[in-house]
Amino acid sequence: MKKLSVLVVPVLIYLFFNTSCTHMPDPEFVPDPPTDTTQNNPCSPDTVYFQNEVLPLIVSSCAKSGCHDAATKAERINLSDYNSILRTGGIKVGNPNGSEFIEVITETRVKDRMPPSPEPALSATQIELLKKWISQGAKNLACNANLNGCDTSKTISFQKDIMPVIELNCKGCHSAYSAGGGIKLTNYTEVKNVVTGGVLIGVMDQLSGFKPMPPAGNKVDRCNISKIKIWIRNGAPNN
Ligand code: HEC
Repeated sequence: MKKLSVLVVPVLIYLFFNTSCTHMPDPEFVPDPPTDTTQNNPCSPDTVYFQNEVLPLIVSSCAKSGCHDAATKAERINLSDYNSILRTGGIKVGNPNGSEFIEVITETRVKDRMPPSPEPALSATQIELLKKWISQGAKNLACNANLNGCDTSKTISFQKDIMPVIELNCKGCHSAYSAGGGIKLTNYTEVKNVVTGGVLIGVMDQLSGFKPMPPAGNKVDRCNISKIKIWIRNGAPNN
């Protein structure tokens, strides 16, 4: 009996710490934050809009096929839509530093970090955005960027106007480590490669005959699609 407990106790201790260290979802937790997904308001710079800024980032960084998408739900965590993210994603509404979601993306031990190595960590700006969203109540807000006015009068710059849109909406699934369809979109040359044949606009504007991208979540807003079209019409320069 004594011998058995010598074996069993460390196993129990290991199991306890092991499960408490991984980000197990809380099946009892039912999210109940206010929900406002109206798109009749322009975007305010002080507010983080889940639908416009947070969901595309989480979908392309976490809800990939084989990871935390609705079909795979790795570790029972589904990060493909608002309710699932609130229910299973380790979000403590109003408390970013108490949220396991933030803990795993800021984890300094590479082997425990999400997205897992060899995927790169999220950038400091992206982490700040996610923390701010949780601080502001992790609400399901949306805004209509088209109502802010779409200024296409200035020269469209690849680095300033186009690449940030790709980084937010596409790069996580089209990086060196997870290149959806064998396509990488991490720099100018790689983006330029899919301009040919109208593929970039075809997938983003979700035209018939093209695979809609992003495959889940929201379509990129009209203003940014217009900017990409103008940039392509100008010869898709690396400016
Ligand atoms: C959640 C992951 C994910 C996101 C986000 C995503 N893609 Fe994809 N993409 C894929 C996968 C997976 C494939 C391969 C699909 C297939 O072959 O059925 C793919 C395929 C493609 C293709 C090839 C289409 C074809 O017809 O072969 C292009 C181009 C593309 N994506 C561009 C984009 C762009 C641009 C964005 C951002 C607006 C984006 N993707 C966002 C996962 C993603």
